[in-house]
Amino acid sequence: MCGIVGYIGKRNVVPVLLYGLQRLEYRGYDSAGIAVLEKEENRIIVEKQVGKIRDLQEYLWNKKIEGHVGIAHTRWATHGPPTIENAHPHISRKGTIAIVHNGIIENYLELRKELIEKGYKFRSETDTEVIAHLLEEEYEENLLKTVFKVIEKLEGAYALGIISTYEPDKIIGVRKGSPLIVGVGKGENLIASDIPAVLEYTKDIIALDDEEISVLKKDSVEIYGFNGAKKEKKTFHVTWDVSIAEKGGFKHFMQKEIHEQPRTVGDTITGFSSQDIENLFSSIKDINRIVIIACGTSFHAGLVGKFWIEKFARVPVEVDYASEFRYRDYILNRKTLVLGISQSGETADTRFAMLDATKKSGAKTLALVNVVGSSLSRESDFVLYTYCGPEIGVAATKTFTAQLVVLYLFSLKLAQYRGLLSEEDFKQKYKELLHIPSVIEEVLKKDDEIKNISYRYMNAKDFLFLGRGINYPIALEGALKLKEISYIHAEGYPAGEMKHGPIALIDENMPVVVVSPKDSLYEKTLSNIQEVKARKGKVISVATDGDKSMKEISDEVIYIPEVKDELYPIVTIVPLQILAYHIATLLGKDVDQPRNLAKTVTVE
Ligand code: M6R
Repeated sequence: MCGIVGYIGKRNVVPVLLYGLQRLEYRGYDSAGIAVLEKEENRIIVEKQVGKIRDLQEYLWNKKIEGHVGIAHTRWATHGPPTIENAHPHISRKGTIAIVHNGIIENYLELRKELIEKGYKFRSETDTEVIAHLLEEEYEENLLKTVFKVIEKLEGAYALGIISTYEPDKIIGVRKGSPLIVGVGKGENLIASDIPAVLEYTKDIIALDDEEISVLKKDSVEIYGFNGAKKEKKTFHVTWDVSIAEKGGFKHFMQKEIHEQPRTVGDTITGFSSQDIENLFSSIKDINRIVIIACGTSFHAGLVGKFWIEKFARVPVEVDYASEFRYRDYILNRKTLVLGISQSGETADTRFAMLDATKKSGAKTLALVNVVGSSLSRESDFVLYTYCGPEIGVAATKTFTAQLVVLYLFSLKLAQYRGLLSEEDFKQKYKELLHIPSVIEEVLKKDDEIKNISYRYMNAKDFLFLGRGINYPIALEGALKLKEISYIHAEGYPAGEMKHGPIALIDENMPVVVVSPKDSLYEKTLSNIQEVKARKGKVISVATDGDKSMKEISDEVIYIPEVKDELYPIVTIVPLQILAYHIATLLGKDVDQPRNLAKTVTVE
């Protein structure tokens, strides 16, 4: 995990680095630090704090640090607890080289031992500090050459930012397995783990590929492969504004992102056909199996996708947690499509499972991601995008509904290419889908009503979420949303499974959220609600407008507009996101940065 940023140019580097860190805080937020090259005395000043970026900001408030070259880091601890010593940047023994690192150096213990034998003393428990010492140990008149030498010794995944008093006119960025982009400005250049960190200064971006090194001076950017060869890389222009990455009047990013869904669902519907779908579907129309791999919320989207793909395209689908898939003896062949779903496109479990699958089986791979140019998108044979812009809140919301849209359209198009769905039927379904943004708009109007419900249940110790069929994954997702931001224990269960065990948990203190729209399984779900009521459980149901029976039987009902059965998941999740949001904020929790979590999990 972790976020890194570096700047070289005409401005005072400190505010630029702090701005960048704030935009990257979603990548980790247990400690942060900056390293600035001070020109007058040609020395590196390092300042760090445990806590969030605002703690570092307050700490730096009265310090007069000036410089035009610097690097910074926000950390999510892997090796060693969040302490000042373990926070980045790390500096070499003589103080001549400072580095920031995102990733893991797998052979650091071995390297550390060798350096200790040579007399190096370590200040931190991190894997990163070895790199700073190695760079100093190997340095001979050329920083870039030294970097080439050192990376030969490193095993693992890393994105690095390096500055040195030996060559104070540059920043070196290195990418292997962890994301790194270059922001190309006028008389100033930046490196960062993600685009929002540089948007205030430039919208022209170079996405580094794995095993590439960037050398940034004030007026130039050079890119090299790990083999030493210089490369020409294209710059792309980002069209979204920095304000998209801001809160836009909402209290939290999560709230803003929930309310953005009419737009992001709409953009993703229209964006779908602008992608290279002709090439994708003609290449995969003869596959006989699909394996979906993903984590967390993206995994839940995959579970919904299975229903659609099997229903319309009649291709069998398995959905697996990426972290489980990779370590079992899975069976794939050239007729299998492996579909990796990931908002960030950087989740290590998903990326490595996909790479493993390609290497071992030659199966075709398709990535469904939100972040353009992300690792997963570049490592897969095909890519489909959601059109959400950056998602900052740790809890995935708008990207989930957008993933559902893509999976729905994917299943319909695949069905068409396989001759199972006529053009006319496709158009009809597409028309119904186009109606969903306005349906979500209606659900968002229930915000206050859902807040009132949240007051009544915010002190519960446990929650059950139930759903059936295509709405069962929505119960799982509703439970995940609640537990990750409110820290209340919650479980998602198929409603029909309840009598096989979980019903024992139900008493008058147990709120049970039931996803129960008027679809083909409605009557069955209704019976399950009766079972909960008979044991005095408190039922909060998500039901279709006009469903009077649900009012009679439930303690609380959140009504949603009627849509076609198969489209309910894109709508039923919205009230559950709002419910989780309000319960968590009423409890005073930090919904955008819940404890122990980071937005993008780039470690296994
Ligand atoms: O970026 P990804 O979609 O690959 O992330 C996967 C999970 O880490 C992510 O969905 C996580 O579960 C979220 N915090 C859920 O809200």
